[in-house]
Amino acid sequence: MSERVLVTGGAGFIGSHLADALLTRGDEVRVLDDLVPEAHPERKARFVPPGADLVVGDLRDPAAVNRALEGVEVVHHLGGIVGNGKSMLEVRRTVDVNVVGTATLLEGIVARRDRIRRLVVASSMAAYGDGAYRCAEHGAVARVRRTDERLASGLWEPLCPRCEREVEPIATSEDHPLCPISVYGVSKRDQEELCLSVARAHAIPTIALRYLNTYGSRQTLGNPYTGVAALMATRLLSGRRPTIFEDGKQRRDLVHVSDVVRATIAAGAAPERAWYQAFNVGTGRSVTVVELAKLISRALGRDLEPEMTGEHRAGDIRHCFADVTRARELLGFAARVSLSDGASELVDWAAGERALDSSERANAELRARGIIR
Ligand SMILES: NC(=O)c1ccc[n+]([C@@H]2O[C@H](COP(=O)([O-])OP(=O)(O)OC[C@H]3O[C@@H](n4cnc5c(N)ncnc54)[C@H](O)[C@@H]3O)[C@@H](O)[C@H]2O)c1
Ligand SMILES: [Zn+2]
Repeated sequence: MSERVLVTGGAGFIGSHLADALLTRGDEVRVLDDLVPEAHPERKARFVPPGADLVVGDLRDPAAVNRALEGVEVVHHLGGIVGNGKSMLEVRRTVDVNVVGTATLLEGIVARRDRIRRLVVASSMAAYGDGAYRCAEHGAVARVRRTDERLASGLWEPLCPRCEREVEPIATSEDHPLCPISVYGVSKRDQEELCLSVARAHAIPTIALRYLNTYGSRQTLGNPYTGVAALMATRLLSGRRPTIFEDGKQRRDLVHVSDVVRATIAAGAAPERAWYQAFNVGTGRSVTVVELAKLISRALGRDLEPEMTGEHRAGDIRHCFADVTRARELLGFAARVSLSDGASELVDWAAGERALDSSERANAELRARGIIR
């Protein structure tokens, strides 16, 4: 059945792949996107498929939102400011776009609740803050501690708040408490909770998807604040060693964009028992950041060892990888793309781009402002 779908942020990395997939299955697709400079340095909607109807406008502008919602039955809300590092400096802008922008969109959706059948909102693992851990003595630990003293001495592993012993990372399930440690994470938590609570009150079936670290073609290469895999590819392609904060042993769950798109489409058609809930979208597997750097340099055929800076960037967590049980059981979703296949897809695409590696300048700014130390 063909649907009329709005994808906010549909000119971006994940949103444009989603728009492609929706068009392929026969939906009518509209995109609302403001083409922000960090995602679109040339202010051009390069990735919006020709079959989609593009509305260039700001989520915070009710007139643009109302225009974009005209005739729409399903909303996928992916638009917003992305990334932890810069959000620690751009506090107001991050909150304004992600929270006030979402509130503006919600008012437009509520006004059309007779027609709008579904809302899917892109939340993030950043809403958790650090992932789940187990203490040998105290079992599951909800909220670990990483003190400034330990970070300054290069002791990266978090501690059990009760016995101050190092804890072991375990898969993070959706029941893990949301304790974000970056402005971006706070804004994603608020965005998710706003959508779930407002939609529930107005009986608009809604699902929040907490994407883990998403990677793949069209990922912003020039933005030094997002996308660890893309950042590494950009460094390597400019002949530089990837730089890694801390000791590189932090664990992440890298999920390919095509899997994220499948999960998002599944959420748009999920059965009632899945409504008004949040779901992790990840692979359930974890990789250290050093392993990831090596995999990407192999995929690019560049033999450059990553460099560990031994620094900590405020807003960064130590480990997080997903427990994927809920998405499997209620959305019928399981990730398919292996990291090596996904890395090839990313680097094949990145090799054809001319991205400027601006990470050194960006990190210098974060250092000057005390965010990296
Ligand atoms: N990439 C990841 O690893 C990841 C992980 C977790 C969650 N997410 C979430 O997925 C969504 C998509 O992220 P992405 O990686 O594709 O990033 P992206 O930056 O490529 O896409 C975001 C899009 O939103 C647009 N946008 C920004 N501000 C806007 C505004 N005020 N009005 C309208 N449009 C605006 C941007 O121009 C951009 O095209 C975001 O909500 C992000 O928080 C991404
Ligand atoms: Zn303990």
